[in-house]
Amino acid sequence: MKRQSELKGIIGDLKRHLEFQKSMGVARVPVEKKAKEETIPKAPGKEPVKTQPKAQTSPEKKDDVIRIEEQIGIFDASAKKMTLEEIRAEIGDCTRCKLHEGRTNLVFGEGNPKARLVFVGEGPGRDEDLQGKPFVGRSGQLLTKIIEAMGLKREDVYICNVVKCRPPENRTPEPDEMATCEQFLFKQIRSIEPGVVVCLGSTAAQSILKTKQSLGSLRGKFHQYGRAKLMVTYHPAALLRNPNFKKPLWEDMQVVMKELGISKPGD
Ligand code: URA
Repeated sequence: MKRQSELKGIIGDLKRHLEFQKSMGVARVPVEKKAKEETIPKAPGKEPVKTQPKAQTSPEKKDDVIRIEEQIGIFDASAKKMTLEEIRAEIGDCTRCKLHEGRTNLVFGEGNPKARLVFVGEGPGRDEDLQGKPFVGRSGQLLTKIIEAMGLKREDVYICNVVKCRPPENRTPEPDEMATCEQFLFKQIRSIEPGVVVCLGSTAAQSILKTKQSLGSLRGKFHQYGRAKLMVTYHPAALLRNPNFKKPLWEDMQVVMKELGISKPGD
């Protein structure tokens, strides 16, 4: 009985996972075919002879997606490495920029302090401001689904933003606000030392990479950020507005998964 309900649970998880993949534009799930045992036809009066399956040749590698770009983010490797608690204490009850005037809670970031993967958004929205946690509103729920589709849990990764206080009416943070706050993001990444940083949307990408290039031209390949590789992709809020972005986002996440050695769902 217990095994049957476990099996039902697994099938349910798999179904939800595949439905999510489909909604992300994944049309096919790669399945490794088990090589068939070949049987040499029986010679008269003899048993058929089984041969070893032929070694599977790996499929032609498609145009390798992982390319390190010239684009190098501003990263001071000689800067002192602080703990996340020390960084939070340094921020304190911040009044360094005008965003503090409208905030309910400062949203520092949350997750695994030793995460191999860090997601960086733009700045807190209404729900995040009220709860003091990053990505907990609608786009946050979609981010959680994306993380889970990658075979990870929210607690495995670290999630934060360029600015820690909500911009009024969710407007894009202004250059002076980003310039004031981004030092703390850089310290957070320096503290965590992840293998991969994912910038969600052009604000995070342009802030970290110090570029004005469009998201379209930055996404889909790795940039270097200190020792970490940095991937730029669409913000989940953009996916909620335009589902056509789901497919390229998922392609970007597959590049990230390959880099982190996370096997693709379905493999
Ligand atoms: N959008 C962001 O960029 N960050 C959040 O934390 C929530 C929404």
